[in-house]
Amino acid sequence: MYKIDSYIPTRIVFGLNRLNELAELKLPGKKALICVTSDDLMKKLGFQDRVIELLAKNGVEAVVFNGVIPNPTRAGVMAASALAKESGCDFVIGLGGGSSIDTAKATAIMMLNEGDLWDYAYTGTGGRKEVTCAAPIITITTTAGTGTEADPYCVITNEDTEEKLDFACDALFPTVSIIDPDLMKSLPRELTIYQGFDALFHALECYITNRNENRLIDIYAEDAIRTVAQWLPVVVEDGSNLEARVKISYAANILCGYTQSLCTVTSHHIIAQTIGGIAPSFAHGATLIVVAEEYYKDIKRFVPELLEDIGVFMGAAPIEGDKGQNFINALTDMMDATGVRTLAMSDHKISKEDCQKITDITYDVVGIDLDKYTLTKDDIHAIVEKSYR
Ligand SMILES: [Fe+2]
Repeated sequence: MYKIDSYIPTRIVFGLNRLNELAELKLPGKKALICVTSDDLMKKLGFQDRVIELLAKNGVEAVVFNGVIPNPTRAGVMAASALAKESGCDFVIGLGGGSSIDTAKATAIMMLNEGDLWDYAYTGTGGRKEVTCAAPIITITTTAGTGTEADPYCVITNEDTEEKLDFACDALFPTVSIIDPDLMKSLPRELTIYQGFDALFHALECYITNRNENRLIDIYAEDAIRTVAQWLPVVVEDGSNLEARVKISYAANILCGYTQSLCTVTSHHIIAQTIGGIAPSFAHGATLIVVAEEYYKDIKRFVPELLEDIGVFMGAAPIEGDKGQNFINALTDMMDATGVRTLAMSDHKISKEDCQKITDITYDVVGIDLDKYTLTKDDIHAIVEKSYR
């Protein structure tokens, strides 16, 4: 029979032009720290001033932390939380993509907890102290990838140890997430592709981990996979196609947030995050893509039926006598169609020798115990090495 646990308390405000509702929404305080990236992109696009203006209409004062970098770091979070405390902010807003939102989430932890962020990391070299509270979090997303708008996670890199680790607790569910696909029109083609693949992997990894146990996860994941497979090629072709932006955002920001709230991803994400920790310039979605083909070729021996289902959701008919190969074909076709099958680790200063380091961190430091199949350290090494170019 069905076995279901469900807790997703975030208020989602989704739809074109709904950012304007920030002026009237019930907000959790009177002074907000807004986290944005250091390239001032939010300012250049006009989003930052628009948000500050809408907050003012709502009677909320804003302080801006513009020190977020891609693959956000522990040091960035500590700087943001120091600013929030000094300025007397009572909640935090992540404005932008996953990096800004995850910085805002981790900052929310450090606004109410003592010590260093790494004291609260629960894997790797983290101190494993429990997080029981965080300042309220509002997210305003301008990208369609991570699902962090609707889930209780954030991912932060420790620049000293090169670990890129997840933080997870109920306090990290945003209070409100405003998801306005109109803000995504300006997303560059490359990022649109990477984030679309990130969403695809979130959904299918959760589908694999769930193994048809929690029906809700399968429903969300199937709809996400079908939607991304159908609409990513459309939005890559024409980034101004608002219908396609809405569909991809719905899949990535809501459905994948939900699957991740109810379930975990697989070691595919752990390997990719390790690569991102070593090479911070490597976009998260791209690190997933670079090992995907070899990863799924290998795990086909464990979960052929599940991969076959996923292939069907992507529009690829089962192949008689080779269960799951339809998914591998659909995946590589999508990678070819979007021009990302040739992405290379060597373009990000990762050497062939680093394959061992990636394996060691993945297997020994972070660990892959969230998988429901058993990959050995040699398996991981083989996946990474075969993926290397
Ligand atoms: Fe991801």
